Amino acid sequence: MRVLMTGAAGGVATMLRPLLAGLYDEVVLSDRQAPEALASHERFVAADLADPASLAAACAGIDGIIHLGGHSVEGEWQAIHSANIVGCWNLFEAARDAGVQRVVFASSNHAVGFYRRRDRIGVDEPVRPDSRYGVSKAFGEAVGSFFADKFGLRVLSIRIGNVGTVPLDRRRLSIWIHPEDLLALIRIGLEHPELHQAIVYGESKNERSWWDNRTAYRLGYEPKHRAEDHVELALAAQAKLPPDPIGDLFQGGTFCAAEFAGDLKRTSS
Ligand SMILES: NC(=O)c1ccc[n+]([C@@H]2O[C@H](COP(=O)([O-])OP(=O)(O)OC[C@H]3O[C@@H](n4cnc5c(N)ncnc54)[C@H](O)[C@@H]3O)[C@@H](O)[C@H]2O)c1
Repeated sequence: MRVLMTGAAGGVATMLRPLLAGLYDEVVLSDRQAPEALASHERFVAADLADPASLAAACAGIDGIIHLGGHSVEGEWQAIHSANIVGCWNLFEAARDAGVQRVVFASSNHAVGFYRRRDRIGVDEPVRPDSRYGVSKAFGEAVGSFFADKFGLRVLSIRIGNVGTVPLDRRRLSIWIHPEDLLALIRIGLEHPELHQAIVYGESKNERSWWDNRTAYRLGYEPKHRAEDHVELALAAQAKLPPDPIGDLFQGGTFCAAEFAGDLKRTSS
């Protein structure tokens, strides 16, 4: 199986690359900028998500795509639009044109960030983006669903919480995912024989989870890592942070607080 990873110079890709060694025949790395230190099973193809021709070259001969590329935080609409709206659409179109069978889309918890921390949500509730970035991730999930139903691709959208070797604060105790667990979800997207299209939450085994992740478990997900094993570290880091009267209410945290001019009473349900 030949796999294309977009956003290959980024933080998550850099954590995943060593874990992919030995799993697939070839991993094609794609980004606007070259990633460092290519291994023997890796090859780099420069591609801008805004440029369909470069994406066509990256997708040639590929069986499955891990789509990590794009604008990964809140930003100006122009930048989000170019990388995550136009770029995401271009990526799916290039995949279809090249006969790629599977796409794993790196969605985000920020697609549902305006749910309260007291809420427990699955993947059937409406999206509730907390940022332009979150809106673009909800769009990507919709594009994935469309390309699966209309054109027969197999698509897994992973609403990633926060990727790292440890959870960094109290919020992250609820949404953290270890890179090895993220890889396990990605492998479901690339390999599960019965996948059509699905949305799952990208979280490890988190006792403080805000999410019902039964779709992932039904697909065979078995997370190995527990956020609670790092609780002291996370709460010590939290103690150094100032309270955030808006962000602390919502799952999306600071993304909700930024520019907030809403009515807290009306966002309570
Ligand atoms: N890091 C997390 O914990 C986290 C959480 C939720 C979702 N995600 C999603 O996972 C993915 C990877 O996140 P990350 O933290 O590695 O982000 P990152 O910003 O470190 O990496 C993103 C990469 O995409 C590339 N890129 C941006 N615009 C591009 C364009 N127009 N054409 C080609 N390449 C482009 C950048 O050069 C960069 O290397 C992103 O889609 C992000 O939204 C990450």
